[in-house]
Amino acid sequence: MTGPIVNLHDHARAAQAALPEAAWAYFSGGAGDELTLRRNAAAWQAWGLAPRVLRDLRGGHTRSQWLGREWPMPLLVAPMAMQRWAHADGEAGMALAAAAQGCGMVLSHQSSTPLQDVAHLVVAEAGRGPLWFQLYWMSDRGALRGLIAQVEAAGFEALVLTVDAPVNGVRDRERRHGLPQAEGVRPAHWPTPPVPSGEGLCGGVAEAAPTWADVQWLMAQTRLPVLLKGITHPLDAREALAVGAAGVIVSNHGGRVLDTLPATAELLPRVAEAVRAQRQDALVLVDGGIRRGTDLFKALALGADAALVGRPALYGLAHAGARGAAHVLRLLRDEFEATLALTGCASVQHIHPDHLWPLNPTAAPAPLS
Ligand SMILES: Cc1cc2nc3c(=O)[nH]c(=O)nc-3n(C[C@H](O)[C@H](O)[C@H](O)COP(=O)(O)O)c2cc1C
Repeated sequence: MTGPIVNLHDHARAAQAALPEAAWAYFSGGAGDELTLRRNAAAWQAWGLAPRVLRDLRGGHTRSQWLGREWPMPLLVAPMAMQRWAHADGEAGMALAAAAQGCGMVLSHQSSTPLQDVAHLVVAEAGRGPLWFQLYWMSDRGALRGLIAQVEAAGFEALVLTVDAPVNGVRDRERRHGLPQAEGVRPAHWPTPPVPSGEGLCGGVAEAAPTWADVQWLMAQTRLPVLLKGITHPLDAREALAVGAAGVIVSNHGGRVLDTLPATAELLPRVAEAVRAQRQDALVLVDGGIRRGTDLFKALALGADAALVGRPALYGLAHAGARGAAHVLRLLRDEFEATLALTGCASVQHIHPDHLWPLNPTAAPAPLS
């Protein structure tokens, strides 16, 4: 890697050069032919920006208010498993990076660092973004209750239940190279070691897959707001609100689970519309393919309140530890602030669908009914 690192693509190249093949395959890969993986990034590019000029930009900022607190930036680090496979700094480094840049952090249930150690580092940090914990359903309800009690005691502010991966996706690159190996690195809270992609498909795994009734049970076990991650259908978004979810995360798991799903940029407008029709104060978040500050801006223009970034943060972590992850978030933040100013928006509250042009009408979602 020669020359300075000035964008997220540079971070991806530096990570690929730094990581063993199996780790690169695990972190960067997607399911099937990786069509959804590629489409996620391409779909943000299918929208052009429509700036307004001569707007009053004085007092500009990126703040918003959600779930009873201020968010300095409408950006969170997505939950990602086994971050110590990327770098020894792992989830602790990622959380410090997010806090330093005013971004939120969602810690994965498959974290390779104990949740208490991560929370302890950042929970008292003024100016950090929200600190959330992501759960996969576990059929052992006692264990799930015990974990939720730990999450609450550690100071996490919301639970994210991931609902789009009741079985493992089938990722060819991972199957070729096997899972990464790292001495002493194992999941801190997940009861079984990770299994290679594609294994454990319809056997016992699907038997334990959660239903809406389980989601309702989960809500009754916690005082924390619960968001559902992996919502792509407007009817599921409505159901989520009906059972009491605080919000939904429009996600196709970064193209890692089921290939040929549409891009999240394509799915977002209808889900956002369904949520707004039911409840104004419910959160709509989105992830998948966010690689530029302009992508984040477009996500907000298409109806999201904030977005999550996945792989790029891991890539920064992989080749430069916490500093690398912080740099990725800083780049996104700087690009986003520039986009706000250059489109004539003094704050995120000024972002509007009218700031978008559909460049390629076939890639744009059908008009909302
Ligand atoms: C290596 C890796 C591990 C992931 N692990 C989890 C996980 O444990 N839980 C989860 O809900 N999503 C997981 N995801 C999905 C991310 O939360 C997120 O939906 C996705 O990465 C967003 O797309 P992006 O990588 O294009 O930004 C993982 C993604 C990657 C790349």
